Amino acid sequence: MAASGAPPFRHLLGIAPLETGEIEALLDTADGFVELNRRSDKKLALLRGLTQINLFFESSTRTRTSFELAGKRLGADVVNMSVGVSAIKKGETLIDTAMTLNAMHPDVLVVRHHDSGAVALLARHVRCAVINAGDGSHEHPTQALLDALTIRRRMGRIRDLTIAICGDIAHSRVARSNILLLTRLGAQVRLVAPPTLLPAGMDRQYGVAVFHDMRAGLEGADIVMMLRLQTERMQGSFVPSLREYFHLYGLTWEKLETARSDALIMHPGPMNRGVEIDGVVADDINRSAILDQVEMGVAVRMACLDHLTRHLRAAP
Ligand code: NCD
Repeated sequence: MAASGAPPFRHLLGIAPLETGEIEALLDTADGFVELNRRSDKKLALLRGLTQINLFFESSTRTRTSFELAGKRLGADVVNMSVGVSAIKKGETLIDTAMTLNAMHPDVLVVRHHDSGAVALLARHVRCAVINAGDGSHEHPTQALLDALTIRRRMGRIRDLTIAICGDIAHSRVARSNILLLTRLGAQVRLVAPPTLLPAGMDRQYGVAVFHDMRAGLEGADIVMMLRLQTERMQGSFVPSLREYFHLYGLTWEKLETARSDALIMHPGPMNRGVEIDGVVADDINRSAILDQVEMGVAVRMACLDHLTRHLRAAP
């Protein structure tokens, strides 16, 4: 996360560059913000005077709203830049957009882009903190942090839990960030997907177990994390049909029988009911943590904004 030298939280570009202690500190800070977000007066002044720009090159509902609320609850001035009306549509390059925004002196840029590595590239051309809100199929660090916070609060720990990440692993930045974070915090991670949606060699690269059969992959699992079939990133066909995909890989009560009887069900959203998950499973208030994940998202983003701007507040 850190650029060379101080301050320690220059950017949040991914989970990979974070130290384990930094991950735990972010989760601890976020825990405190959860309580604040449940009060009627949710406002703090930690980011007062600071400007946060949300720059989203890909459509997003929950992530953008979540970052906007997070910034506002900490007192920042938050601006949402919609790419539909931005100069990028008129042919401006990413670097020119970055330099233009930089000239307006923002303190934090929250960026989502459809290309892996684009957020890191942009970060090299601005003089403020950059948060990666998802770049291509590379990383989505705040999603992994909010998933970890959800698990930690619901299960009391992450270490030694068996966590099955199921579905379109190949195109998922959520999967990649979660694999990095959850293995780092001591969970046993399994990837469950058809071979066409699971790049070869991930077991050795990340120290995870790989399954192509749902029932086998879910056996004894504490957490079942479902992923959306990301058709917008697919060139060509990766599954024979949505019906067959649901039959083989869609999460149903029947497939969940092999998991622990209290296994927690998660999904980053947006959900495709009847494709990767049966609606009745997603809606079960005792087993599904999907709305908890949304709630934890705001708290985690507040923690990230707080940590990334601490050096500004410490300055004279
Ligand atoms: C994820 C994303 O955008 O990568 N969604 C999210 O941030 N809530 C997953 C997805 O789009 O399927």
